[in-house]
Amino acid sequence: MIDSCQRNNRPRSTARRRTALALAAVGLLAAAGAVVLPVAASAGTTLGASAAERGRYFGAAVAANKLSDSAYTTILNREFNSVTPENEMKIDATEPQQGQFTFTNADRIVSHARSRGMSVRGHTLAWHSQQPGWMQNMSGSALRQAMLNHVTQVATHFRGQVVAWDVVNEAFADGGSGARRDSNLQRTGNDWIEAAFRAARAADPGAKLCYNDYNTDDWTHAKTQAVYNLVRDFKQRGVPIDCVGLQSHFNSGSPYPGNYRTTLSSFAALGVDVQITELDIQNAPADTYRNVVNDCLAVARCTGITVWGIRDSDSWRAEQNPLLFTSSGAKKPAYDAVLAALNGGTTPPTTPPTTPPTTGPTTPPPGGGSCTATLRDGTRWGDRFNSEVTVTGASNWTVVVAVTPPQKVSATWNGTPSWDSSGNVMTMRSNGSGNVFGFTTMANGNWTRPQVRSCTAS
Ligand code: G3I
Repeated sequence: MIDSCQRNNRPRSTARRRTALALAAVGLLAAAGAVVLPVAASAGTTLGASAAERGRYFGAAVAANKLSDSAYTTILNREFNSVTPENEMKIDATEPQQGQFTFTNADRIVSHARSRGMSVRGHTLAWHSQQPGWMQNMSGSALRQAMLNHVTQVATHFRGQVVAWDVVNEAFADGGSGARRDSNLQRTGNDWIEAAFRAARAADPGAKLCYNDYNTDDWTHAKTQAVYNLVRDFKQRGVPIDCVGLQSHFNSGSPYPGNYRTTLSSFAALGVDVQITELDIQNAPADTYRNVVNDCLAVARCTGITVWGIRDSDSWRAEQNPLLFTSSGAKKPAYDAVLAALNGGTTPPTTPPTTPPTTGPTTPPPGGGSCTATLRDGTRWGDRFNSEVTVTGASNWTVVVAVTPPQKVSATWNGTPSWDSSGNVMTMRSNGSGNVFGFTTMANGNWTRPQVRSCTAS
């Protein structure tokens, strides 16, 4: 349905014809019982915007002490819509003395990100490495209890602010054994991983809980299979787990494997999201970056990519120049390849929606001032969908959109969002990116269309 006010006011533009074609295509596909919907019409100009139009995030690992570097924050704020604190949420950073928690640096990153509409991945609650001295010296039930208390306290502090947690990091051994890594945590008993996940779920029921590891990219490797078996076992027994993080640090000794897409899709088939959590590639070959992005786009439950740093000089492996920006902040060929892949990526296969998608613009309620906001449906996946809002009548605008709980907005583009305390009402302000903004909604089982509540010119 198109309301008369909208029909009268909208010019016969190319965009309108494109919209009409897209809507017609939706109708044809729906009539044919197809489940693949058209991709969003526009091409983003930044990594975050382009990924969001694909229903995904594009993030970076961020260091708190670089937030005062304007060259750094200029790229961060322009390009990325997700952030992972590189070190500031680790055990040694957040609980340097037992029972004394320090969140200052992590809070700075979270605040920087959320005030700009970026989501936050939490990294990491339980790990054999980066333990503070007091924890390194513990064992047995005292260590188990301390670990669970740490998980509980940290996840509670960030409840509602972190969309996904790397609950447990790097718990499997390298090599061909497929065994757990020996560590003080492992020696508290084989069930330490599931105990950590249960504690994290209890502390923040809204966060996605991930297992995160490296050298788990090649489907044939014993370590990959071991993590796969852990996730399958957790799903079968009802241990809370929502996602698997593949760190994906690629280099000559641990190259990008040709079966990477198989690995992503195999994990996804277990009923978990897959996230590429720490991507960097030695010498940043454009082809390999492109392959990684296309592999993620080909798997509906590959929900986002994080690069482990912004400029080469920010990398933990700076000598390998493995990132998307030079040390002086210039875009590298790998950047162009990633952006092009995000913009040209194929529509991912979807699982059939439980209800048919709705199409056509909504009618905004009256009283929104002298601008009009029209929402139309974008791409839809098995667990989430995009919406685009076109504003007419103002170049500086504020649009209020509401989603229906338990829906959650997971990504936005072309605007500066803020949320009310419920997290269900989003206020989007123009940020100079034009008059069309978009967002991704995690359905969480509810496919109700988001509602435009008001449009105010400013
Ligand atoms: O900030 C201090 C500085 O004050 C001090 O002078 C200096 C002396 O060593 O250390 C500095 O801290 C270092 C910190 O990075 C910040 O640069 C630590 O020593 C160093 O151990 C730490 O390394 C981090 C590493 O994890 C260990 O936690 C890297 O930045 C970080 O990129 C890396 O990230 C890991 C992921 O968490 C898990 N996956 C692998 C990935 C790469 O190793």
